[in-house]
Amino acid sequence: MFPVETKVFKLNTSTDHTNAIYEAATVLKNGGLVVFPTETVYGLGGDATNPDAAQAIYAAKGRPSDNPLIIHVADPADAEPYAVTCDAYYRLARHFMPGPLTVILPKKDTIPFSVTGGLDSVAVRCPSHPIARQLIQASGVPIAAPSANRSGRPSPTCAAHAIEDLCGRVDIILDGGDCEVGLESTIVKLEDNRGILLRPGAITPDDLRAVLTDLSIAPAVTAALAQGERVLSPGMKYRHYAPAAPLTLLEGKDEDVRAFLIRQAALPGVGILCFDEEIPLMPANASLFPVGARHDLETQAHRLFAALRDADAAPHIEKLYAHLPPMEGLGLALYNRAIRAAAHTIVHIDPCVPKID
Ligand code: TXA
Ligand code: MG
Repeated sequence: MFPVETKVFKLNTSTDHTNAIYEAATVLKNGGLVVFPTETVYGLGGDATNPDAAQAIYAAKGRPSDNPLIIHVADPADAEPYAVTCDAYYRLARHFMPGPLTVILPKKDTIPFSVTGGLDSVAVRCPSHPIARQLIQASGVPIAAPSANRSGRPSPTCAAHAIEDLCGRVDIILDGGDCEVGLESTIVKLEDNRGILLRPGAITPDDLRAVLTDLSIAPAVTAALAQGERVLSPGMKYRHYAPAAPLTLLEGKDEDVRAFLIRQAALPGVGILCFDEEIPLMPANASLFPVGARHDLETQAHRLFAALRDADAAPHIEKLYAHLPPMEGLGLALYNRAIRAAAHTIVHIDPCVPKID
């Protein structure tokens, strides 16, 4: 069912990409699958106007076909044949496109329901990564692309992650190095020029509010879904980014959380997603997966998924701990991914209660 051979092209600034891009574009036009870098995470692309390509994407990813795909266009106005745009869309586009923003709009008939998981809306994104843009332009079609991970794994932030998950299941992987942002795009749904934030990302609620006067945040961004609750974005209902070892997020005073982590790090089978400053404080035999400096949220966003993958690959890890990210600014995107990875397990560290299991 899957192609036996996956071609990997390494594209760096010193090589001429033309042939690889041309070959990848031809594969897309013929209904094949191409993994490509974006500024957020790697995407698993197919022709968004071809219903069979969408089915192939779901199969390669092992993803339920009611979870819709984002279509990637080279310029904001290129969405016109596929989506019903509005004033607010173009205002957002002027500020944030090309870039890590996805906007959900009513769909037109040119986009098959297999791409939108049966919904009458479509998610539109205009990535800024030069390889993504060249690929879209060369293929002449919008590219439907979820993140290029197998379902349930963290999104890939470098080609090695995509190769790990999808080699033998796609035709081509374009290796464009590390993704700059490291977390998936911010998703906003527009309804009558009002915005609903469905997934936080590098473009923060404050950034959006500077452009959209009316923005609300979907409750599922920060909370667990109640049983049977209706979801605005089907992706919210699936367990995500789950590391093999259960992850617990810790909140509390800095010094209390740090003291707890140092004690835990000495135990066998425990892995810690720690801040860089904490590395020298930890026991020598600790299994550490550093995510960046305490206040450097950009680096934490850039490294979080790689750290979760590293923890998965490390032998004998049975339990993982990480700091609960703040909910402000870019922290909201980290918080949203972290609570999903932890299946909403958050523990408050209180120095009066010395031990948890
Ligand atoms: O940064 C990104 O957005 C990456 C890169 C590759 O562009 N893509 C990505 O796609 O993260 P994916 O499929 O892993 O996540 C898309 C999310 C899913 O949670 C899906 O449910 C939601 O967007 N979505 C897509 N179309 C939608 C729609 N019409 N209505 C509501 N939610 C939608
Ligand atoms: Mg994804």
